Amino acid sequence: MSESSQAEAIEQAARFLIESRYVMAMTGAGISVESGIPPFRGPGGLWTTYGEPPMNGYQRFLENPKAAWEERINPTGPSAILRETVAAAEPNPGHEALVALEDMDILQFMITQNVDNLHRRAGSRNLAEIHGNSTLTRCIQCASRYPLEETSLDVLPPVCPKCNGMVKIDTVAFGEPIPPDVLAQCQQTTNRCDCMLVIGTSATVFPAAAFPIQVCESGGVLIEVNPYESDITPLCMVSLRGPSGDMLPQLVSAVQSLRGA
Ligand code: APR
Repeated sequence: MSESSQAEAIEQAARFLIESRYVMAMTGAGISVESGIPPFRGPGGLWTTYGEPPMNGYQRFLENPKAAWEERINPTGPSAILRETVAAAEPNPGHEALVALEDMDILQFMITQNVDNLHRRAGSRNLAEIHGNSTLTRCIQCASRYPLEETSLDVLPPVCPKCNGMVKIDTVAFGEPIPPDVLAQCQQTTNRCDCMLVIGTSATVFPAAAFPIQVCESGGVLIEVNPYESDITPLCMVSLRGPSGDMLPQLVSAVQSLRGA
């Protein structure tokens, strides 16, 4: 895409953000690539390199929660790479730009598929982590969540101090239903949304991928931020073809200049 048409696309996207009533964002692994965390699919993806993991992670947890926790504490293969890169990662200008849009009262709510806690660390407030947060644990009975560092791992699986239920890591395993409280928040906000930024996701995993489709089907505008085309590209009014750590700060500047800030 030429520089001039890229500038036009950014200006167009900025106009949509300013003119919309309820702007949301949905982010995926791509926004954290510039923080050193590999994506799952596409070039350099963990699943591309190591193959997709078994889709029955939750079943295996329920069958042997102690073994699942031991694997969690001493991960191997792609899980170890994910664990190490997430531990070493810092929020990047893409994460920070979304905080700026929230501070400017443009961005009303965000859904992230990422478990890396980088949006929270950057300062995002109105956020649903649809696949959970790797720094938290969650009781599978009462859904209470606890900081991982405050969760005793002397006895595995840990027991919920509130209801004696079984505690697992908060990240949603393959085959595990999305916690109802988080799913309801995603659905309620998407019902109000007339413009959604779709950032760094292949838009292939459901139910997350259904939210931008719903926005489009209800007449809303989708703005994609991704260096490559994805499954959602055909539904997007504007596509910013570049790394989010580069495109999103430019988008913030365009909004500021249009607003005369
Ligand atoms: N900036 C923006 N987007 C990028 C960047 C970047 N610097 N680098 C790569 N991308 C894009 C890729 O082109 C791809 O479309 O990010 C997307 C990453 O897609 P996936 O790896 O499929 O990640 P995601 O969509 O978040 O996966 C969804 O799948 O494996 C499960 O639970 C996991 O939450 C994850 C879910």
